[in-house]
Formats: sequence, structure tokens, C-alpha cells
Amino acid sequence: MAQDHREQRNGAERLPLRVNGDDVEVEAAPMSVLADVLRDELGLTGTKLGCRAGDCGSCTVLVDGVAITSCLMPVAQAAGRDVTTIEGLETDGELHPVQQAFSDHNASQCGYCIPGFIVAAAETVANGEVLDREQVVQSLSGNLCRCTGYESIVDAIVDACGHGTDREVAS
Ligand code: FES
Ligand code: FES
Repeated sequence: MAQDHREQRNGAERLPLRVNGDDVEVEAAPMSVLADVLRDELGLTGTKLGCRAGDCGSCTVLVDGVAITSCLMPVAQAAGRDVTTIEGLETDGELHPVQQAFSDHNASQCGYCIPGFIVAAAETVANGEVLDREQVVQSLSGNLCRCTGYESIVDAIVDACGHGTDREVAS
């Protein structure tokens, strides 16, 4: 298992990050994983940690608009790039279309996996991709849910893709 962020204090450096549109500085070892730094240093606990191995997708965030598993990215690799977490998708109190679609379709049960699904789908919507149901299922291959059976999640994302959006995620 990867060494825990809090055990990596030795060698910590001040690192500049841009997260949800804000320039911030964190104190972390360069090889700390981004997910730990987001959660422990910045309090952005909407990003969840499941497997810590790149398999479950619960830690998905956008880096320069691309969905990545933040449990695998060293924080130093994110320095100077635009990081968007689930907290950064809402704008002026308005839910992102994918968040709204998940709400409309009651696509959450325990909710643990949901930020990862929403962030991954936000990339799809931002790219203007209009996916059919089968393509949505394929696009979700990197995200796991233990609760919902996926039907309502797929419904929500198909809906969100159909709506599209001309909004950009925070940068
Ligand atoms: S915690 Fe990152 S993919 Fe599972
Ligand atoms: S809603 Fe519980 S793991 Fe997905």
C-alpha cells in the first residue's frame, strides 16, 4: 500500500497549486498523492479514497480538464496545473448539469463513489460528447459503485450529456 501522506512529512516542501480556480500553497512531500493533499491539507473531502490503486475511480478529479485518479498522481505533478474537484463544479450556487442530473435521477445511495462519477462525467460533458447509453457505460469503466446497480447513474449521465453545457469547469 502507498505510504500515507501524513507519514511523508519529512521532506515536505511548499508547493503551489491551482485548485477550483484558487491559487493555493500546500506543505507536502512532492511524492504525496494529490488525493491526500486535497483532503488533508485543503479540506476538500469531496474527493474520496477507496482502493488507492487506480481501480475504483472514487478519487477522480480533473487536471487541466482531464479526469485522473488522484490517488496515483504525486502532488508535485499537479503543481502549476488546474485541478478541479467535485467542490469546484458548482458555480454561484448553481449545480453543474451532471450534479443536477444525479439529483434528478436519485442516482446516489451511500454516495461514496458519486463525486468520482460526477467529475468523470463532467469531463465528458465539457468535451461536448453526446453519448448513448452503451457509450456511457463504456465511459464509466474506471468507476465502481457498490450500491446503485449503475442504472440510475447511467440515466443521469445520458441525461446530462443530452443537455450538454456551455459552462466551463473552474480553471
Ligand atoms: S482511490 Fe483512486 S482509484 Fe480508487
Ligand atoms: S452509491 Fe454507494 S458506492 Fe456508489
